[in-house]
Amino acid sequence: MFRFVFACFFLFAAGLSAAELPLSPRPASVEVQAGSYLLKDGSAVALQGIPQADFLLSTLSEAAKMKFVQAGNGTAPITFVLKKASQGTSPEAYSLEISSSGIRITGDEAGLFYGAKSLGQIVSGASKADGAAKLDNLKIHDSPRYGWRGFMLDESRHFSGEAAVKRLLDAMAHYKMNRFHWHLTDSPGWRIEIKKYPRLTSVGGRGSETDRSPNAPAEFYTQEQIRDIVAYAKQRHILVIPEIDMPGHADAANIAYPENDGGGFRRSGDKWIRFTFNPAKAETLEFLDNILKEVAELFPDAKIIHFGGDEVNFGWKQWDSLPEVQELMKKENLKDKDAVEGWFNRRMAGVINSLGFKVAGWDEIATRGLAKDKTIVYWWRHDKPQVMRKALADGYPVVLCPRRPMYLDFIQQKEHKVGRVWGGFNPLPDVYNFPAALKLTEAQERNVLGVNACLWAEVMRDQERRDFMTWPRLVAVAESGWTPADRKDYASFEARLKPELDSLKARGFVTLYDPFEKSPEVRDKKEVKALKALDQPD
Ligand code: ACM
Repeated sequence: MFRFVFACFFLFAAGLSAAELPLSPRPASVEVQAGSYLLKDGSAVALQGIPQADFLLSTLSEAAKMKFVQAGNGTAPITFVLKKASQGTSPEAYSLEISSSGIRITGDEAGLFYGAKSLGQIVSGASKADGAAKLDNLKIHDSPRYGWRGFMLDESRHFSGEAAVKRLLDAMAHYKMNRFHWHLTDSPGWRIEIKKYPRLTSVGGRGSETDRSPNAPAEFYTQEQIRDIVAYAKQRHILVIPEIDMPGHADAANIAYPENDGGGFRRSGDKWIRFTFNPAKAETLEFLDNILKEVAELFPDAKIIHFGGDEVNFGWKQWDSLPEVQELMKKENLKDKDAVEGWFNRRMAGVINSLGFKVAGWDEIATRGLAKDKTIVYWWRHDKPQVMRKALADGYPVVLCPRRPMYLDFIQQKEHKVGRVWGGFNPLPDVYNFPAALKLTEAQERNVLGVNACLWAEVMRDQERRDFMTWPRLVAVAESGWTPADRKDYASFEARLKPELDSLKARGFVTLYDPFEKSPEVRDKKEVKALKALDQPD
């Protein structure tokens, strides 16, 4: 009884009710039981036959802020039990049982990782006496609402770099997020080394959205760094999906290899004058095929390549005067540029599929007749919900990432000055409550893969500002993706968020936005307005 009262006191002190655990995302089901278990620092953990046992042990120790050791044979205070997921159950599900005789975590590999994270968070939030944590007896059965809980990082507009990406992956894993969508190419910069075409990075990697000076450094990932990051993510049960945007958003590549240029924006003052690849030139198609082959080798796990496909019509005007496009239109009986774009989509999707990969793309690709079982549609145009509904009805798997509320370059508080506002902005509660407002039917939900937040970095030169725009909204995204709809509750989320802000700061995200304090907006140290023209850096 004394222990129960003590535990209640502690939880109330942290602003949480007795039945509420310090867990984000909130688990699917928690049953608190009578009695408690005293977990001592230095306790042994039984991990016999468990893959990545050392990593699991260090994950648990780090999350719990205690040091645990591997047990020899026999019983131990904490036991991990590998149970392969059966057909129809999630490999990310786990159960966690704390009883007066010890702690047991059961699940498949990913489930055990998430179980270790959950136990670690419970232990770290528990009351301590003489190096031991007092834990209420309980049973957690946890399983994600969606199998896709993603985050997209735009590295083209401004480059984040290896250390920032690894720190981000660690935090994503902490919140049970499992898809890292890596926007590696776009008009301002090409960030992935392609051995066959070194100028893509030596020239196309120079500068950023706000720096086109000829001596701007080339910023990009070598193939070795990419392999290392992909392995780092995999260990944390995160799949990396690379994005190689085509046929639009291609200025950086076209500056490096102008022979592929299909033209771009031509109104005065526009900067993206090489916005598209030539969609019909044989040599350009071969160039793209070769790039995709190297990309496929670097990302063997997710078996998905995102090939963009967005906003092409903004920059395709010059296709009218490209002889290769005219020839293709005649040969393939294509009536206009839209049909040419569709032909290009199908051709490139075919190449990606033939490499053994699914293709993912922004929602413009949903009407191109691509194979339903090999295509993933990212719904981003929040003002076109009919596109998402049609894609679902047509049987495409859909990732939900509408600008409102999933684009994190929108401001999060009305007083903030820098960032997008588009008939409103993206405050924390809107992110948290997503996707309830869509009122998806059960049939639609079956084809929804999950949720994906996107950090577009046009007005984010500094890492401090990127952190400010990302956190804590990504904690809300994680819960939107993980927690069943009937377990979501904003008041509970807010109560659990307070300690999470400290935990994020301890991870180095010291410039996060504190919604309780309404902390001041973090802006770039050197703010630069959008550039007028893109100078050729060579
Ligand atoms: C996008 O925001 N252009 C996908």
